[in-house]
Amino acid sequence: MIQLTRRYQFSASHRLHSADLSEAENERIFGKCNNPYGHGHNYEVEVTVKGEVDRATGCVVNLSDLDTLVGEQVVGPFDHRNLNEEIAEFQHLVPTTENLGMVIDRRLREAWPRVFPGAAPKLERVRILETPRNIFEI
Ligand code: NI
Repeated sequence: MIQLTRRYQFSASHRLHSADLSEAENERIFGKCNNPYGHGHNYEVEVTVKGEVDRATGCVVNLSDLDTLVGEQVVGPFDHRNLNEEIAEFQHLVPTTENLGMVIDRRLREAWPRVFPGAAPKLERVRILETPRNIFEI
């Protein structure tokens, strides 16, 4: 078994604000991330796949197919977007990187069998880096 991790990057803006919390609570919990005008991040997403090395190709996954999938589900829809305003999942969900990571993971898992039918390669793990210090593993 081989695990391969491929890294993708997109830039997006967001505002951390919960309609379930008071203004004071939002301010206390999210601090400057609650700024009404938002702020941006250069997110990095690491997609790890796992499978056997194909005897004919010597590869664990067709990277071109993986790029197409991640492009269609993640980079294309999210790059240079405001997550709060432009992404359906965040109309009623705070776009923290915890939630963003789970949305990305769900999008990839739902689309995965269409691109990679059969048992392998499987999607092993999604990680998202919001900053060099904030790293989330789903
Ligand atoms: Ni932020």
